[in-house]
Amino acid sequence: MRGRFITFEGGEGTGKSTQASALADRLRAHGIAVKLTREPGGSLGAEIIRHVLLSGVAKPLGPEAEAILFAAARDDHVRSTIAPALAKGTWVICDRFIDSTRAYQGELGNVDRRLLSGLERVTIGDLRPDLTLVLDVPVATGLARATKRRGAAQADRFEGEGLAFHEQLRQAYLKLAAAEPDRCVVVDARAPKPKIGSRIWSIVNKRLQPKPANREAASVTP
Ligand code: TYD
Repeated sequence: MRGRFITFEGGEGTGKSTQASALADRLRAHGIAVKLTREPGGSLGAEIIRHVLLSGVAKPLGPEAEAILFAAARDDHVRSTIAPALAKGTWVICDRFIDSTRAYQGELGNVDRRLLSGLERVTIGDLRPDLTLVLDVPVATGLARATKRRGAAQADRFEGEGLAFHEQLRQAYLKLAAAEPDRCVVVDARAPKPKIGSRIWSIVNKRLQPKPANREAASVTP
């Protein structure tokens, strides 16, 4: 059986990576094979493009060119990592996916929606996430967390944007989530990490009913 595909989305410092990894651990403990991955990146070609994008060298080329680069990275990631894992029955958890392009390049970068939907069609085809968890925190909280996590390192291409950008980003995510309630769930990510983790676990159980790979086999074994 095909694995299930879960994506995590949200602005900077919402705790996506921590929660994605906690969910992967929980599913594994439940007997499910999980591939934890991220965008941009997650495959050799995509990691190279990630470096180009996050260093900011593509910024002067404009949001359209950045959208095309994100799409090129996604194309490689889907073909090399995500689709093969799902086909094997492995669950895939991805830190950012299509909604990041829709929010950052679409809502904030104002890239033509026809270009974005064309890129989406060629990169993912009908590979939609089964569930998208949109982690939501007030912008000031998210940016403070991101600054703390970064330490002495320089802000990357998108972390370096101003407060208004991040506020607009938060609204963009809430709008995207509201438009697809069957796929997206907004998670209030202000609570302590374990509490958010439990909330996410209950959403995953309710929506996707994870079953250990060997449970069916076990039930037919005399
Ligand atoms: P990353 O360090 O992975 O950020 P975070 O820890 O916030 O997930 O950097 C990814 C950055 O790339 C992030 O600022 C969002 C941006 N991005 C886009 O603009 N479009 C996309 O399609 C994707 C996948 C990411």
